[in-house]
Amino acid sequence: MCGIVGAVAERPIVEILIEGLRRLEYRGYDSAGVVVLDQQGNTSCIKREGKVEVLAKAVKEQSPQGTTGIAHTRWATHGVPSERNAHPHQSGNRFSVVHNGIIENHEELRKSLSADGYTFNSDTDTEVIVHLIHKLSAVCPDLRSAVFAATQQLVGAYGMAVVDSQSPGQLVVARSGSPLVIGYGLGEHFVASDQLALLPVTRRFAVLEEGDVARLTKESVSITDASGEPVSRPIKESDITADAGGKAGYKHYMLKEIFEQPEAIRRTLQGRIVDGKVAEDAFGHGSVELFKTIKHVQIVACGTSYNAGMVARYWIEQYVGISCSVEIASEFRYRKSFVHKDSLLVTLSQSGETADTLAALRLAKSLGYSASLTICNVETSSLVRESDLVYLMKAGPEIGVASTKAFTVQLAALLLLSKALCEAKSINQYFCEEAAQALNALPGHMEQAFSLEHSIKALSEQFADKKHALFLGRGDQYPVAMEGALKLKEISYIHAEAYAAGELKHGPLALVDADMPVVVVAPNNELLDKLKSNIEEVRARGSVMYVFADSDDHFESEPGLDVVNMAHANHLIAPILFSIPLQFLSYYVALVKGTDVDQPRNLAKSVTVE
Ligand code: F6R
Repeated sequence: MCGIVGAVAERPIVEILIEGLRRLEYRGYDSAGVVVLDQQGNTSCIKREGKVEVLAKAVKEQSPQGTTGIAHTRWATHGVPSERNAHPHQSGNRFSVVHNGIIENHEELRKSLSADGYTFNSDTDTEVIVHLIHKLSAVCPDLRSAVFAATQQLVGAYGMAVVDSQSPGQLVVARSGSPLVIGYGLGEHFVASDQLALLPVTRRFAVLEEGDVARLTKESVSITDASGEPVSRPIKESDITADAGGKAGYKHYMLKEIFEQPEAIRRTLQGRIVDGKVAEDAFGHGSVELFKTIKHVQIVACGTSYNAGMVARYWIEQYVGISCSVEIASEFRYRKSFVHKDSLLVTLSQSGETADTLAALRLAKSLGYSASLTICNVETSSLVRESDLVYLMKAGPEIGVASTKAFTVQLAALLLLSKALCEAKSINQYFCEEAAQALNALPGHMEQAFSLEHSIKALSEQFADKKHALFLGRGDQYPVAMEGALKLKEISYIHAEAYAAGELKHGPLALVDADMPVVVVAPNNELLDKLKSNIEEVRARGSVMYVFADSDDHFESEPGLDVVNMAHANHLIAPILFSIPLQFLSYYVALVKGTDVDQPRNLAKSVTVE
């Protein structure tokens, strides 16, 4: 989604802003813009539709000078992607604003500001903010109070940064619903929606809380909370390296992240299994006592994270023997759901900022859950800060929009959660021991699975002219098929659907013909014979099938049936391992089709709006 970068310094900052925007490109955007002010308040504003490089070229040509500035990548919500709708938005040649989020009462504000004589130059909701600040500046003593007063009239979500040409040398920023971090340098300060943007200039960050307003000058940062009282927010050193956002020689972030999975799993499990048991504080302080009492698990998530939750449902019900429901966050948050007694709410999220998942957590707090646990990849995120218990994934920054390593790391964490629940309840020791062994062996098996890359690459050519594909799985592999279909559709734009294989003859079989490739996830488990019958049903309709199988499944490739054999591993980790060939498949199909693998059209990495 949209990205914000801001800086106030002694030195020229335009290059810092542009580099910050480059580092936020992965989030998805369709236009970009920058405003810089020199020490006299002379203001230059440059905006472009399209990529940051187009903006960078325009900036190079115009070489604006400035020591204070704000910049933005926009992912369109209100108003089409265009230069006119790109941020920063300005009012009266004086105030400039960049904004992430959505202002829900923008229509009403637009009407009243238009009646006051303000002229709107865009179709965005954001433009109301800048005119409102302009209007309030007439009755407020300074920029910070004007911004604070404006926030009191805004309904919706915002992370914003504001500059005023009449008081150069300061930035005012405000957060409610869209994350912002302050970066601390020596004699210079920065703001961004994601610390990755600022790693080349600082590693010291403070995360703003909901309702905070901060004023940044080169010498100081002062923060007030939602009630306008001065507060301090802890400054922490980031352990992410500045080059963590690089491609390390890979053609795409997605491919790099696929290959990072064994290491990401090792890091995520490190210190969390001790002598074969889940470490006492692995799921947060007090989790063991709590887990003893838990009789139901409610998982809430979106997209790929939801698919991970769907796998966990099989594990939790089968091995822990308690009920588990999984729901898409955007549904959960808007319906009256039944809360089971002694129920644990689990949110899953790579970014920790997904608007619907966060809203679901906030809603759940009033519903009587025993506690909330988040399994999340970003330590400074809202989900981590607002959950009772946290299992921090250590996948490292995930830049490719299509989630890969976050999915498999979530699965490893969820298998560990199933084990932790069993251990707390002193049940199913056999599963507990098996899970420990399987998880320890997992990175090695993943590395083995990488050897399939080239055969899958060859096979992907056959998808190039296809418009649709079906993915089939049974049991805990059904959600793996769902994830495979999601990956294929989002980066190659081939319409793909996943079905529980037994469901095929209840409708989707009608779609099957030679133009509909059917991908089957078929590890050797107790459902294999059933799955084989489903495969025969499909083959009899003339489909071309791609079966990802265990080497001891006894499938043979023949015309119309391509078999990719995986080395056999413990059934507990099969959903994690079988995800890898499906990731390769979507990656190489996208490559054949020439789509933008890392930044697929219309999508954003972190979905901070509803
Ligand atoms: C798909 C993908 C999305 C995310 C979803 C939730 O590849 O990445 O479906 O999984 O937007 O995001 P997080 O996990 O950050 O809450």
